[in-house]
Amino acid sequence: MTDTSPISTQRDGDILIVTSDNPPVNALSAAVRTGIWQALDEAEGDDGIKAVLLICAGKTWFAGADITEFTKPPVEPLLPAMVERMEGFAKPIIAAVHGTALGGGCETALGSHYRIAVPSAKFGTPEVKLGLLPGAGGTQRLPRLVGVPLALEMTAKGDPISAKQAHEAGLVDRLAGEDSLKADALAFANEVAAARPIPRVGEKDATADAKAIEDFKAKNAKRFRGQLAPAANIDCVEAATRLPLAEGLQFERDAFMKLMFSPQSAALRHIFFAERKASKIDGIAPDIKLRKIKRVGVIGAGTMGGGISMNFLSAGIPVTIVEMKQEALDHGTGLIRKNYEATAKKGRMTEAQVEAAMGALTPTLKMEDLSDCDLIIEAVFENMDVKKEVFGKLDKIAKPGAILASNTSYLDINEIAASTSRPQDVLGLHFFSPANIMKLLEVVRGDKTANDVLATAMALAKTIRKVAVVAGVCYGFIGNRMLIPRQMEAMKLLMEGATPARVDKVHVDFGMPMGPFQMSDLAGVDIGWHRDPNRIESIRDALAAEGRWGQKKGAGFYDYDANRQPSESPRVAEIIEDFRKKSGAEQHEITDQEIIERTLYTMVNEGAKILAEGKAQRASDIDVVWVYGYGWPPYKGGPMFWAGQEGLKKIVEGLEKNGFDVAPLLREKADKGETF
Ligand code: 3HC
Ligand code: NAI
Repeated sequence: MTDTSPISTQRDGDILIVTSDNPPVNALSAAVRTGIWQALDEAEGDDGIKAVLLICAGKTWFAGADITEFTKPPVEPLLPAMVERMEGFAKPIIAAVHGTALGGGCETALGSHYRIAVPSAKFGTPEVKLGLLPGAGGTQRLPRLVGVPLALEMTAKGDPISAKQAHEAGLVDRLAGEDSLKADALAFANEVAAARPIPRVGEKDATADAKAIEDFKAKNAKRFRGQLAPAANIDCVEAATRLPLAEGLQFERDAFMKLMFSPQSAALRHIFFAERKASKIDGIAPDIKLRKIKRVGVIGAGTMGGGISMNFLSAGIPVTIVEMKQEALDHGTGLIRKNYEATAKKGRMTEAQVEAAMGALTPTLKMEDLSDCDLIIEAVFENMDVKKEVFGKLDKIAKPGAILASNTSYLDINEIAASTSRPQDVLGLHFFSPANIMKLLEVVRGDKTANDVLATAMALAKTIRKVAVVAGVCYGFIGNRMLIPRQMEAMKLLMEGATPARVDKVHVDFGMPMGPFQMSDLAGVDIGWHRDPNRIESIRDALAAEGRWGQKKGAGFYDYDANRQPSESPRVAEIIEDFRKKSGAEQHEITDQEIIERTLYTMVNEGAKILAEGKAQRASDIDVVWVYGYGWPPYKGGPMFWAGQEGLKKIVEGLEKNGFDVAPLLREKADKGETF
C-alpha cells in the first residue's frame, strides 16, 4: 500500500485491522478496492494473521461504489471480484459497520463472513434509486441471507433498514456498543478467528418463493410504473432462488450492465448529483458565517402556514404562529395536531413526540410576539398590499438581524423587501403544498438579499430535510413560471379538440403523477376566480361558476365518486363544446406527440429563458425543482436533462412546428449540438 492509499493496515495480536479512510463517505473507489486487495494479500501471506477486521474511519462505512467512476473506464480489481475474493478467503473476515452500509458497501459486508454493527448503523441497497441493481452480488447474497421477501423490499425499493432490523433478519450477527465498535469488533474477531467452517453467505440456498415474488410485484405495480430497475432487481432476486451462485452472479452482472447504459439510470444519476449541487451557491464561500435560527415565526395559519410550521416543529425548532382571528388560529393549530396524530397512528411518531412538537408551538394573535424570532415566514393571502403591510409591521417588530421571508408563489420579493428598512434580510421561502410533505423549497434571492441570509436559508432547508434550490425574482420563480405555458397550452388543446382525460393520460403515461387537469382539480379550479365571480371568459371560469371547483366539491374537470375516483364528465364536455363553438377555434386531430410538444417542449423553452436570465443558477437546478416540486419522473431526469435525451434539435423543430418563439439559448445549444 502506498502512503496515499485510503487503506491502512495494523496488527492487533492475531488480527489484521484494515481501515478505510476515504472521505466523505468511504465510496469504494479504485484506490479503496486496490488497498483492500493488497490488505488481503498481506493477510494471506502471513501465517500469524488469523482473521481480518474491516472497519472504516470517518462518518460512515462504505456508502457504496464510487458513482463518479461509472462513466469512466473500469479499473481492476472490480467490486464484484473483490467481494468474491473476500467471500472465498481462507481466514475469517469481520465487517465492523457504522453509519450507512449502502449499495456496494452492503455487498462488501455480505462478502465478509461476520458482521457487527453499531445500533445507529443502516443497511441498504439503494441502487434502484440510481436506476441500477446491486451489481456486486447483492441480489444473490441478500435473499440467501435474509430471505426473498426482505431482499425484494431492500433491492427493488431501495430504502435502508436499521441495524436492529438487520440484526433480527440475520444480516448483522452482533450489535456493538454505539461508542465501542472497534473494541467490540476486535473481541468478536478474536472469538471467531479459529471457528470453522467459515460461514459464507454464497454457500447458503435462497428458498424459492414464487408467491412472495408475485405478491410483491402486484402490490407495487403502481409504484414501479414506467421504471426498468425495480423489475430487474426482482428478476435477479428470483434468479437467486433457482440458480447456483456463479450463474446467479453472471445473471446479475448482465442485468447490471444493461441498466448501467440505460437512459433511465443516466437520468437518476444526474438527479443524484443535481440535488447535491443545488445546495451550492455560486459566488458564496461554503464557510460563510451563518445566522443562528433558534426560533421561527410564521404569519398565517392557513393551508401553507400550518404545514410550514410543522417542518420546524418536527426538527425541534420552536415556532410562534400568528393569526388575525382566534377562530383561524384554533383551526390552523388544530390541523397541525390532527396531522401529527395521524402520523402517530401510522406508527411513524410516538405520542410523546406529538406532544413535544405541539409543546414547541406558541399560537398568538399578536404580531409583537414575533420579536424574539430569528426567522419569520409570512404566509398570508397572496396580495401585494396585504404583504407590504405585514412586512412594514414586521420591520418594526423583528429583532435586528432576523431573517424575514415570504412564502409568496408569484409576487415580487424586491417590492416586498422595499417595504422594510432592511431589504438585505428579506428573501422568499417558497414551500410547496402540502408544505410538511413536499421536499422542494425554492429560496428566492432578492436583489438586495445578503449572502449570509441566503446561505442560512439553504443550510436551514437541510435541517428541515428539504431540497432547496436558489431562484431569482421573476413571476412564478422557476417552477410555477414553467407551469404557466404548460397550463395555457393544455387549455388551448381542449379548445382544439382534445379532452381533459386525453391530455392527462399523455402526462401520466410520460410518468407524471397526474396531468394538468387532474392537477387543477386537486389544487382547486376556483383559484383566482373568486376575485371576479361574474366573469366567465374561459372554460375554467365556467366550471368555477357552476361550483365545479375540483376534488373538494366532487366535480371539476372530472366528476368524482364518493371515493374520489374520477370519471369523464358529460357536463364538462358540453361546456368545452360551447366554448369551442363560441371561439371558432379550429378543430383538428390531436396526436400524443402534439400534446408533448405543446405542453412539455414549451416548458423546456421557458426553462431556457429562466437560465438565460440567470433566474436559475444551472439547468440541473431546474430539474431538481420539477422532480421534487411537481413529480417529474426522476427516471427522466427533469425537463432540462430530458430535453437533452430527447434531442434539443427535435425540441426546437417541435416548437417551431407549433408556432412558438424558440428561446435563443435553446436554439444556440441545439445548433451547437449541445445539451443543457
Ligand atoms: N459515490 C461517489 N460520491 C458519493 C457517493 C457515492 N456512492 N455517495 C455520496 N457521494 C458524495 C456526494 O456526491 C457528496 O459530494 P459533494 O460533497 O461533492 O456534494 C458527498 O459524497 C456527501 O454526500 P451527501 O451530501 O449525500 O451526504 P449525506 O451525509 O447527506 O448522505 C449518504 C450520505 C447517505 C451516504 C448519501 O450520500 C447517499 O445516499 N449516497 C449514495 C449511496 C448509494 O447510492 N450507494 C450505492 C451506489 S451504487 C453501487 O454501490 C453499485 C454497486 O452495487 C455495484
Ligand atoms: P390561506 O388563505 O389558506 O391562508 C392565509 C392565512 O393568513 C389565513 O388563515 C388568514 O387568516 C391569514 N392572514 C391573513 N392576513 C394576516 C395577517 N395580517 N396576520 C396574520 N394572519 C393573516 O392561504 P395559503 O394557501 O396558505 O397561502 C398563503 C401564501 O402561500 C400565499 O402567498 C400563497 O400564494 C402561498 N402559497 C400557497 C400555496 C398553496 O398551494 N396554497 C403553495 C405555495 C405558496
